[in-house]
Amino acid sequence: MNNFSFRCPTRIVFGKDTIAKVAENIRDFGGSRVLMVYGGGSIKRNGVYETVTASMKEAGIYYVELPGVQPNPRLSLVLRGIEVFRAEKLDFILAVGGGSVIDTCKAISFGLAVPEGKDIWDDYFMVAGAPIPRGPLLGTVLTLPATGSEMSNSCVISNEKTNVKRGVNHENNYPAFSITDPQVCFTLPPFQTACGNVDMFSHLMERYFTNTPDVALTDALLEASMRVIVQYGPMAYRNPTDYACRENLMLASTLAHNNLFGCGRVQDWASHWLEHELSGEYDIAHGAGLAIMIPAWMKYVWKTNEKRFAQFATNIMGSRVPVSETERLVMDGITRFEDWCHSMGLVTRLSDAGITDKDFELMATRMLTGGRVFAGHFKELYHEDIVNIYRLAL
Ligand code: NZQ
Ligand code: ZN
Repeated sequence: MNNFSFRCPTRIVFGKDTIAKVAENIRDFGGSRVLMVYGGGSIKRNGVYETVTASMKEAGIYYVELPGVQPNPRLSLVLRGIEVFRAEKLDFILAVGGGSVIDTCKAISFGLAVPEGKDIWDDYFMVAGAPIPRGPLLGTVLTLPATGSEMSNSCVISNEKTNVKRGVNHENNYPAFSITDPQVCFTLPPFQTACGNVDMFSHLMERYFTNTPDVALTDALLEASMRVIVQYGPMAYRNPTDYACRENLMLASTLAHNNLFGCGRVQDWASHWLEHELSGEYDIAHGAGLAIMIPAWMKYVWKTNEKRFAQFATNIMGSRVPVSETERLVMDGITRFEDWCHSMGLVTRLSDAGITDKDFELMATRMLTGGRVFAGHFKELYHEDIVNIYRLAL
């Protein structure tokens, strides 16, 4: 295991009927004038909007609304949010939605602290490892377990002018609190449930595929979490109001990406970079893109560490192929992952998503800009490797 330092300051308020506690939590963190950010209207249809605004009104909290966050959240709305926050002299940001809404809020927060003369996109999103300034605090009411953004240090934004989608990771991105009530998942469309399941699985997988030795404890935590998602994911897809499934998946989403299970391990993240290019270029859902890129990445890199891939197939995907038949075992593990995605209505090929090879070179070139030399750590991937993986995914 490697040395590490770990800090994750987000308060999680979990369980049934916890959304009404939003005002109490805002007050706990000193908020009284709130920018409330949400998406295209799902929260108005499922009652979450009503509960959140009633709680703030009752507590005498002033709030201004910023609706309209789109999936694959756009830089333009971040800039608009910064303007509104300043004009209204607000002091707290509240995200009510999925990862796209939360990431918009994270970017608004640190965007407010960007020093004069610096640009939020060019000097932060496009500079690998740029230190993120600390902005106003934000809280979240999560409505879609998937990204783990409710307790992660990541913020992923798309620049609609360049089709570039980039993430920044920094301690200053953590929300102060996140309210996670599994009942909100009852109104999720099956497609979003499926995408969320693949995304939370992928955050564990990106940490699991490592060459760091002696990581038995985090291996066990990662494997157990992935097995639960493999089991409960399709159940929630088929039966959206199964609370037992929803609560386990909601907690899995949070634990998958708060990095506790990644401590002491070199992590991979190539599948995410491959996917971010796809959703930047084609505006597809992140989880849907991962269902395509993960199997292709696996087929390309498995020989780097056959033992780990055999362990994945046996301990997580439930393959019974004997370890002595390594290649057959590894391929069975990958096929089982693909079958799992198919069981939730997702495709695992670019051609099935209507994507051809015309932008592979462009996406590979764009991925390795802004100080990036290669993608991934399990196996370092350069331009040619990246194009080869996109080809394998066709
Ligand atoms: O916009 P509304 O009307 O709210 O509808 C949303 C949206 O259409 C809908 N939805 C959300 N909760 C719902 C609901 N519909 C009915 N009932 C509910 N309870 O779902 C749709 C998708 O929402 P979105 O927020 O885009 O999905 P997700 O949470 O998957 O977020 C995806 C974004 O997060 C990034 C992805 O790349 C993508 O841009 N990621 C962020 C990460 C992070 N910050 O830590 C890590 C991830 O790896 C990921 O890259
Ligand atoms: Zn993800």
